[in-house]
Amino acid sequence: MSHLLVRGGRALRGEVRVQGAKNSVLPILAATLLTGGVVRLRNCPHLRDVDASIRILKGLGCTALWEDGGLTVDTAGLNGCTVSDILMREMRSSAIFLGAILARCGQAELSYPGGCELGPRPIDLHLSGLRRLGAEIQEGGGRLCCRAPCLIGTEVVLALPSVGATENLMIAACGGKGTTTIVNAAREPEIEDLAGFLNACGALVRGAGTSTVSVEGGRRLHGCTYDIMPDRIAAATYLCAAASAGGDVFLRRGCQAHLSTVCDALRQAGCEVTGDPEGIRFHSEGRPRAIRPVRTAPYPGFPTDAQAVLMAALLRCRGVTLFEENIFENRYRHVDELCRMGAAIRVSGRVAAVTGVERLHCAPVEATDLRGGAALCVAALAAEGETRVSRISHIDRGYEDIAGDLRALGADIERVEQE
Ligand code: UD1
Repeated sequence: MSHLLVRGGRALRGEVRVQGAKNSVLPILAATLLTGGVVRLRNCPHLRDVDASIRILKGLGCTALWEDGGLTVDTAGLNGCTVSDILMREMRSSAIFLGAILARCGQAELSYPGGCELGPRPIDLHLSGLRRLGAEIQEGGGRLCCRAPCLIGTEVVLALPSVGATENLMIAACGGKGTTTIVNAAREPEIEDLAGFLNACGALVRGAGTSTVSVEGGRRLHGCTYDIMPDRIAAATYLCAAASAGGDVFLRRGCQAHLSTVCDALRQAGCEVTGDPEGIRFHSEGRPRAIRPVRTAPYPGFPTDAQAVLMAALLRCRGVTLFEENIFENRYRHVDELCRMGAAIRVSGRVAAVTGVERLHCAPVEATDLRGGAALCVAALAAEGETRVSRISHIDRGYEDIAGDLRALGADIERVEQE
């Protein structure tokens, strides 16, 4: 098992380019199925979850090729509508293929994605929305069998602004007939990126980024070349890394507008954060201050995906900072690992109270999930001694090269490959 070795105590200085967004590219890869043509994705991050999506596409008869600066996908050869259980289990967000396969083939068969390390991961909103569009869905034996010779546009009201359900419905609606209106849609920037991609392929999607998204179905989609937006959670991770270790960094392509709540939290902690058209500049010195309670919420609220890395950056804060996790049930698994490094955190239900400590120390720690794993690296940068972070395959799901990026910022971190 590969691991990371982080020798803490060095301030970060330098510049790094923010990778393309994982949460944008995954639905876009599913949506390529609608085009039946060639799509070139620039700034496509090379991640474990992207490789899993590529395996699903190849299993359906499509081709995908990494080329200089991007990924080229050709979905003309699609010859199946079934995704195997093994492939579905490889990636939690594989349910996003449901709407796309259904829209292209009129039927789809895949297994239920099931729970994940963050707790239960239901897809009831995806399924009820697709049923509203006319899909017949049978669930049994862990498999989902879906049929919809023709999807028909209508109004779908989501009980929660689910990111995945909004995306699945947008994709399915493009392949249907008539107008679909998604009410209480998620407003995350990645939804806008998916709409940008679909529109570049000839679709007509309006309102992405607001709570009401409308899709005119029935248009013939074609291939295109598309730039994936920068990853706001990777950017948040590196800002938190710099807040943890102190220093002066520039995140090229980082988009401050997508990170207003994270930047605001870091400013409260005493850091200077400024956005410019090229990226985000960050400066801080010394220990951070405690900040007002951080409550995760759907966009434009504080992102649940940045909760762990911000917590890690505030372990040495002067005072007490409260976190309230409102999106996932089981999103404090990094806490026990952070406590091994000397952090003082008490969890009670959905609230975690971080009492800042003066010093953190090294410890052998394990990544429990993707962002929790990144949080261990953020904490280790401020810890005395050499921290070993293992089970880093979790981190590989979402970061192209976290060690290389942090090294570019002057951190002392290395990846040790082991079979
Ligand atoms: C996406 C992101 C993930 C992020 C999350 C919340 C991708 C690939 N992943 O996940 O990184 O943490 O948004 O910002 O984009 N829910 C239901 N029923 C459903 C669907 C969701 O009850 O049918 C619940 C979930 O259990 C969760 C909440 O709604 O409590 C939000 O989930 P959702 O927005 O759907 O997250 P994902 O799309 O899975």
